[in-house]
Amino acid sequence: MAELAIIGGTGLTELDGLEITHREVVASPFGEPSGPVVHGRFCGTEVTFMARHGHGHTIPPHQVNYRANLWALRRVGVRRVLSVAAVGGIREDMIPGGVAIPDQILDYTWGRDHTFFEGELKGVTHIDFTQPYCPELRQWLLVAAKEADIPVSDDGTYGATQGPRLETAAEIDKLERDGCDIVGMTGMPEAALARELGLSYACCAVIANHAAGRGEADIHADIEANLNIGLDKARAIMGALLKN
Ligand code: HPA
Repeated sequence: MAELAIIGGTGLTELDGLEITHREVVASPFGEPSGPVVHGRFCGTEVTFMARHGHGHTIPPHQVNYRANLWALRRVGVRRVLSVAAVGGIREDMIPGGVAIPDQILDYTWGRDHTFFEGELKGVTHIDFTQPYCPELRQWLLVAAKEADIPVSDDGTYGATQGPRLETAAEIDKLERDGCDIVGMTGMPEAALARELGLSYACCAVIANHAAGRGEADIHADIEANLNIGLDKARAIMGALLKN
């Protein structure tokens, strides 16, 4: 049984190189996951995969059923989750085509089902979210990046926005003043829900574009030019991670 699951975001609805053994449809008490849980082997190691936005990339960030996805992964026995997520770069060194392993989160999302702890509860639970990403899994990712000879930013605060629209330049200025280094639409509530389920969770952020108002290029052209470059790096890091 796979210990690690990869949740693939934009550009990673399928994991090239994953030898699929079977797909498992998992019903959850929280509704439908984005798709079946895909079981297979990547670089010789068992791994589980889920496409966050659905197989055909049809589910927008604010409509992803994050609870169902994580619950389904937990249900099939996964203990660790690696999120691969496209982001915009805010900090100067967060350059399109690069990869960052963020260590903090600021959450600007709203109206999403963001907790398992509601309804008829035996007691109130407040998870410790001081370090939102699993330090151990982050460390493994950084070691894997080094082994794969891929330079990565080894820190960064991920600002999670609601989407599906991209931000205004003024919003990015505000995020920067708040301390955000990268911006994406799917980082929350996914990270907190993973913690609520006791799953180790970390993020491999693929910098697809300069955030709004930060670059010269049109944002969509920026994404077109850089997303796949960053995804290739993320795949190399995952390969090294799974070999270890
Ligand atoms: N903003 C929010 N989410 C994103 C971006 C961005 O610039 N790029 C990729 N996902």
